Amino acid sequence: MRPYGDGDAWFASGWRFVGKLDGDGLCLAGIWERGAEDMDYGKIAPVMGNLWSPIVAVSSRWRGQDNAQICVSIGGASIVAERPRVVAQIYRTNHSHDMIMGSGAFALNFPRAEQLDWIKAFGLVSGRDGRKLDGWEYAAGATGSPLLADCWGWLDCRVVNAMDGGDMTCFLAEVVDGCTVSPGQPLWWRDARQRIPEDWMRAWNEKQAAEVAFSRANMSGIKRGAIRGGFFNAEGAGESE
Ligand SMILES: Cc1cc2nc3c(=O)[nH]c(=O)nc-3n(C[C@H](O)[C@H](O)[C@H](O)COP(=O)(O)O)c2cc1C
Repeated sequence: MRPYGDGDAWFASGWRFVGKLDGDGLCLAGIWERGAEDMDYGKIAPVMGNLWSPIVAVSSRWRGQDNAQICVSIGGASIVAERPRVVAQIYRTNHSHDMIMGSGAFALNFPRAEQLDWIKAFGLVSGRDGRKLDGWEYAAGATGSPLLADCWGWLDCRVVNAMDGGDMTCFLAEVVDGCTVSPGQPLWWRDARQRIPEDWMRAWNEKQAAEVAFSRANMSGIKRGAIRGGFFNAEGAGESE
């Protein structure tokens, strides 16, 4: 067993050393991961299932392109009313990931409970393959990110930091503007999945299988520099045109 190194040291218990916290030489303090291969996922599925957020279309503008992708892993990240913040977890395989990294901004657009069509339009195809926002009414927000006109509400956000998750990036962003547009409730994935057509569900499962394979292969490859000071250079970003 190596006390630290390139991530191939395994204990019999399944714990694996994936990074050193600080300093050189012999160092036992570090970052450890344990695979859940021996755990029955069914035990935690109801808990994990309750963690998904309302459905949002995360929109961005970069190098002249407007785009939006569906996301169910956002959350509030500030208790200070005059400094509202959010987090958004964006998968590295998504075109939006590069767009947000490049522009340093995104907007969270919340569909109303009946706007199921957003899932197909923004969540089952990539902006690499076409202009997803063509035909949709929207305007640029203060950050340059597209704000969809017909929605439940939106938040326009500027990235202040990012944490690498190997397969995804968790962006921390300040909310610079926002509002609710319609009464009622936003759309939740746990409700939407009962109501979407079977062929959308099939397309989602197929797409998801490829993404899970990418995640499985990459989620241990975390750039640990993010923990000390962040790797995201907010000053270098902001290239929205
Ligand atoms: C219901 C649903 C939930 C999704 N949740 C997320 C998510 O939390 N984070 C993420 O990065 N992608 C999520 N996606 C996947 C992206 O929306 C999808 O890969 C999209 O095609 C990416 O578009 P882009 O390549 O134009 O960025 C979700 C998709 C669906 C349909």
